[in-house]
Amino acid sequence: MGLWSKKSLSHLQDEATAEGHGTLKRVLSATNLTLLGIGGIIGAGIFVLTGTAAAQFAGPGIVLSFALAGLGCLFAGLCYAELASMIPVAGSAYTYAYATLGELIAWIIGWDLILEYLFGAATVAVGWSGYVNALFEQLGVALPARWTQAPLSLEGTHHLVASAGGGILNVPAMLIVLAMTGLLVVGIHESSRFNNYIVFAKLLIVLLVIGFGYAHVDTANWKPFIPENTGELGHFGWSGIVRGAAVVFFAYIGFDAVSTAAQEARNPQRDMPIGILGSLGVCTVLYILMSLVMTGMTHYSELNVPHPVFVAISKAGPSLAWLGYFINVGAVAGLASVVLVLLMGQPRIFFSMARDGLLPPVFGKVHARFRTPYVTTLLTGIVCALIAGLFPIGLLGELVSIGTLLAFVIVCAGVWLLRHTAPDVVRPFRAPFIPVVPILGMAICLFMMVLLPADTWVRLAVWLAIGLLIYFTYGRRHSRAVRTAERAAPPSAKGGSGE
Ligand code: ALA
Repeated sequence: MGLWSKKSLSHLQDEATAEGHGTLKRVLSATNLTLLGIGGIIGAGIFVLTGTAAAQFAGPGIVLSFALAGLGCLFAGLCYAELASMIPVAGSAYTYAYATLGELIAWIIGWDLILEYLFGAATVAVGWSGYVNALFEQLGVALPARWTQAPLSLEGTHHLVASAGGGILNVPAMLIVLAMTGLLVVGIHESSRFNNYIVFAKLLIVLLVIGFGYAHVDTANWKPFIPENTGELGHFGWSGIVRGAAVVFFAYIGFDAVSTAAQEARNPQRDMPIGILGSLGVCTVLYILMSLVMTGMTHYSELNVPHPVFVAISKAGPSLAWLGYFINVGAVAGLASVVLVLLMGQPRIFFSMARDGLLPPVFGKVHARFRTPYVTTLLTGIVCALIAGLFPIGLLGELVSIGTLLAFVIVCAGVWLLRHTAPDVVRPFRAPFIPVVPILGMAICLFMMVLLPADTWVRLAVWLAIGLLIYFTYGRRHSRAVRTAERAAPPSAKGGSGE
């Protein structure tokens, strides 16, 4: 009993409108939310993965990979926007699943979202550390390799081995996580203001790269636009474009983090869709233009480096040397805001899970003065810092992508289902063309999941198994929904509950 119990929409809507002591502070406008989305989206994906994916899988066709991944995200984004305006509660996909698919699936998705947010922040923190290293090198200062590299690295796709570079701990990665955690504890308003400044800086840099880079494009680099397949699936040709899409999908992650701030939005019904779809739209256009310029400035085979944007711009020679310097500074600042936004999302999901009884009540504690979920923010920050300090970026990045894709599939399914089970509920924003949009969203996301390595699937299964163990030993026994159902059931129906 209770595994499939759902949270009623009216109860959720009451939660969404609650104000006062113990609730989060409502300060975010539509602009703040859009900038939060952009802050979470533009990061390691465009600054690092574009080059890797173009060089290894898609060539200049990486532009089409960005369009394909963007399309999958657009469909998922429309579904997120519908649910976020209808159920503007901090838990995001977790809460939507609770309303549509029942407690067990909600738990699974909540646990899965840890991969997106907590592991996502750790992944980007490791990328940040790489760019800081490069920046120091540019200034002629060599940071000690032992303290800037993880002790573990990935051999092939599945063996974790001791790092060959003699790394002990990736200290810069840990420091950026702890710094952003501190900011998030102090306040959502302060965090959002910090994010706004950085977003302007990184948007400026992306626009400068597109604008100045365009003048140096050599169209010969775009020929052939889709290099011939090498005979191996996913290595160039059309299958390479799909494989490239699965890799650069990471670059889009973050727009959904807007939905975790629903209870801090001033007018969530109107502004959630603006924040989610606005940030996604802006970034999709910029990504397509940026990848066109990068593969036009330099041959794709030269982009398999940790700083491909810099490599592309340096092709223009001394006339754009100044921009190269800004790119590294911009990447360092830009990646910091991604860490911030992802670290913001995680505690708010834990917060909702604790309020439902699935996690200990301490996870739902709100700071009396700052009105932030400070206990979970600190806990998330400490665990994330440890992960960022110990693990290599490749292992983390793929886990983040598979976890996020699974969440998108469930959100799309939720929208479709809710149109049947609760057709009359007010939907301030309605995703168009139901069921085409959720079906295509699910299909594209599942397609990208299938293209991730088998080891990533195994890791996802292990992660979900750990989550189920926690659910059955703690969550289910403390779940508010299960306890309410038990109290409401007649005595004869209660036998064997074990409580
Ligand atoms: N989209 C984010 C990035 O690319 C996670 O860094």
